[in-house]
Amino acid sequence: MSAVLEFLEFIEQPGQQSVRELLDRVLLKAREMTGAEAGSIFIVRKSGKQDWLVANSIQNDAIKLSKADFRIPVVPTSIAGYVASTAETVLIDDLYTIPKNVPFDFDQSFDKATGYRSRSMLAFPLTNFQKKVIGVVQLINRHKGKRKTPAAFDEKQADLILPFNQIVGRVIERADMLEQINKRNKDLRVKNKTLRAQQLQIEELQKDTEEAFMVSIRLLARAAEVHDEDTGNHIIRCNEYAFLMAKKVGMPADFCREISFSAQLHDIGKMSVNSAILTKRGRLDEDERYEMNQHTSYGNQILARSDRLNMAAEIALSHHEQWDGGGYPEGLKGEQIPISARILGIADIYDALRSERAYKPAFSHEKTFQILTVGDDRLDPTQHFEPKLLQVFKENHEEFNQIRKRLED
Ligand SMILES: [Fe+2]
Ligand SMILES: [Fe+2]
Repeated sequence: MSAVLEFLEFIEQPGQQSVRELLDRVLLKAREMTGAEAGSIFIVRKSGKQDWLVANSIQNDAIKLSKADFRIPVVPTSIAGYVASTAETVLIDDLYTIPKNVPFDFDQSFDKATGYRSRSMLAFPLTNFQKKVIGVVQLINRHKGKRKTPAAFDEKQADLILPFNQIVGRVIERADMLEQINKRNKDLRVKNKTLRAQQLQIEELQKDTEEAFMVSIRLLARAAEVHDEDTGNHIIRCNEYAFLMAKKVGMPADFCREISFSAQLHDIGKMSVNSAILTKRGRLDEDERYEMNQHTSYGNQILARSDRLNMAAEIALSHHEQWDGGGYPEGLKGEQIPISARILGIADIYDALRSERAYKPAFSHEKTFQILTVGDDRLDPTQHFEPKLLQVFKENHEEFNQIRKRLED
């Protein structure tokens, strides 16, 4: 029983021993226990549909050999293959005179290459708890003392070894599984790293594209301002008022982001309006007013060509609509007016009131607040604006003022 304990102790040794080291030590221990001069140990590996016995190490005290790297198929024509296929233990007195009535034969090529004479053999399987063979140990030439001719292995050595097979097999299987898992994890980590790098590249490209897009629409918005009395930062302020209001109303993040760059394009249609009308001082006649108001439809036509500018297109079309239906170009009422355009409507008028016009000076925030919330002879807020949005403006008007101050012309 002490042998069992000794073996267990040896097997359960802590530390990061690799499967190869573990198998090496198992073979060494098995040789020690049986007095085998040489031996080899194999582990079963699947490759495709075929099971293979992969040699882990060959030990031979006589010719000082300790490494091996070859594999043989698990078929019963070789001794190890037979043991692996049948899970039987094989005892052979002389490997060169194997009887013809067994399926296996001894391959003498190793002996021929090294000049060694293999004679007796004890070959046994290493099995896991399910009795599945996970490896094979071959012990060669029981060698005691200085005898010239090695003794044969007998049942005694076989009995000595057999109780440990399953324990050894189980430990090896566990270590092997761990090693395979670690290897797979490592492969996965490498793959993940590569994937991550590719993803970053794509993100980088997308970022570049996105930046180019933003620059393009900013330039487009600026181009539209050439003949307009709104100059400089009006469009940027509109982006910010609109974003602020969208957030305060509780619109989803995607909407807020989109309105933050779509707002600036609201008057893009002015590009298509006759510049004489755009720059005319004094009141416009009816035809001129009609043409001027067309900037909403013109803008929509320009922007509707791009899928990414859907919101900008609806803002361009509907930012002069009024809550009571009194606006243009379509006379939409209430919630028929897209929420984006309803928001921009307030933002645009706030900023227009704060700006100097041919017919008026720039108003203070306080005066503008007064006009937007109470009204004056030109503007009735209850007709113009959605009550909910007006309320949001009332609650956050100081932030409008901050934006105006920060982005003064
Ligand atoms: Fe406009
Ligand atoms: Fe505007």
